[in-house]
Amino acid sequence: MSDQESNEAADPTSRERIEALRKSKAAMRQGGGEARLKAQRDRGKLGVWERIEYLFDEGSFVEVGGFVELRSEHFELGKKKIPGDGVVTGFGRVNGELVYLAAQDFTVLGGSLGEMHGKKVATLLDMAIKAGAPVVMLNDSGGARIQEGIGSLCGYGEIFFRNTRASGVIPQISVIMGPCAGGAVYSPGITDFVAMVKGTSNMFITGPDVIKTVTGEEVSKEDLGGPDIHMGRSGVATYIGEDDESTLDWVVRLLSYIPPNNLETPPVVPPVNRLATSPGGIADLVPSNPNKGYDIHDVIDQLVDAHSFLELQEEYAPNIVVGFSRIDGISTGIIANNPKHLAGCIDVNASDKAARFVRFCDAFNIPLLTLVDVPGFLPGVDQEYAGIIRHGAKLLYAYSEATVPKLTVILRKAYGGAYICMCSKHLGADMVVAWPGAEIAVMGPKGAVNVIFRKEIAGSEDPAEAARQKETDYIETFANPRMAASLGYLDDVVEPGQTAHVIRQYLWSLSDKHQERPQRKHGNIPL
Ligand code: HXC
Repeated sequence: MSDQESNEAADPTSRERIEALRKSKAAMRQGGGEARLKAQRDRGKLGVWERIEYLFDEGSFVEVGGFVELRSEHFELGKKKIPGDGVVTGFGRVNGELVYLAAQDFTVLGGSLGEMHGKKVATLLDMAIKAGAPVVMLNDSGGARIQEGIGSLCGYGEIFFRNTRASGVIPQISVIMGPCAGGAVYSPGITDFVAMVKGTSNMFITGPDVIKTVTGEEVSKEDLGGPDIHMGRSGVATYIGEDDESTLDWVVRLLSYIPPNNLETPPVVPPVNRLATSPGGIADLVPSNPNKGYDIHDVIDQLVDAHSFLELQEEYAPNIVVGFSRIDGISTGIIANNPKHLAGCIDVNASDKAARFVRFCDAFNIPLLTLVDVPGFLPGVDQEYAGIIRHGAKLLYAYSEATVPKLTVILRKAYGGAYICMCSKHLGADMVVAWPGAEIAVMGPKGAVNVIFRKEIAGSEDPAEAARQKETDYIETFANPRMAASLGYLDDVVEPGQTAHVIRQYLWSLSDKHQERPQRKHGNIPL
């Protein structure tokens, strides 16, 4: 070797070295190769780098740990080493804001998670926690890498541990863009939001084959753990997208409502006007007959900045509606009974859905607006057996624990335990106002009269007329907001048309709200 050649070789910036580095970086982006990438695309899925480029602002993504490789040699794994080990980790800007990402690459060993793959995700979570920035995880994996045994299990354990540590500190969003099987489901299960893609994603702890062997049941992957199941029945999914692109669009929109971490306030955007009111105004949207249903979405749309409502878990427990909106540009969590379904009763699933949402908003400093029209907890043997006591208690607990601004509007019915539960004054609401037609009572007139005057009515000459008279008396006494207002449990009785203005005034007045709770390790929410 000449002197000049040996100098070149020792020079860390020599052209050869840089060329070699470029080549290996280009190879890294190939993942499992062109044929596997084509197979991925043929299934209607984007490749991992296409997903990353779609999600992040152009040119902003910085890969971390791209050279990491598996180190197990079992079952000839050593021959299948691919730089990155089947997961791309890094950070970049989404709409200008810092976001961390771990994205599994199904073209590399089926996106399966081995020791080093797991380490990369765990490291990424550590980085996101340190930086105080949201993390997005794109799941597309056959689960634990079978050849690596305990190495894979350890990888999962390290991730679950960090998901838990990050919970309530930074927002965590899981996007299921392919299979997510076995223990792998528990990382999304811990995170705050789970988006799924129609037609290509599924989640289950044991697949159809295992189920057939163990229980004899036959079920397809779609019917076991497809998006519709997790949206409509299990409550695991927050959102279903039509394809990879629209699902990632949703993630970008979701991120725009939430702060990067629990020490910061949510982003505020320039306010936009509310939607033009319907001809009869907002009051006309709520029928005065308390037995008539209506769609609470129409009311929400009249109260928040135009087109700002982002509903979550739309098809799960539709009797309660939850989602983010903007009010005068300020991110606000909405929780609203929906009388269109189950008359707006609170059942087991509605309690879980609303309680989890309230806790997210409280953890991330997002004010709460609760719209109340609720006849009570859903009666029934099924509900009692399913633990409505335990589940309903979660909602009481979540509202009581929350220290963010809590605003409540009682639109029509607010009966019994459900009245208390829907962020009443007694649970620490900062504002509770009611519309003039609101009914705040232990129960509805018919039920109440039947309990307290049954004997008297039965003994009267005209029981039907006597019952009618008692109901009228009851309505006059209790089925209006007067008593609650006179005792100070309402801050005001407001005209429907004034509600949006009143909400904005309170929200403004509470913008610096600060409330401490007694020191404790953590509470013991009835799980
Ligand atoms: C190692 C795996 C793998 C895995 C897939 N591959 N899953 N390698 N470990 N878990 C490999 C395949 O061998 C194949 O490699 C390549 O990835 C693509 O997989 P295919 O089967 O060809 O793809 P497809 O037909 O689309 O089927 C995808 C699949 C299927 C449905 C995900 O691969 C599958 O059922 N995988 C096993 C799922 C599973 O049981 N995982 C373990 C769950 S238990 P080649 O080289 O042949 O192309 C678990 C416990 C964790 O996760 C507990 C933690 C708490």
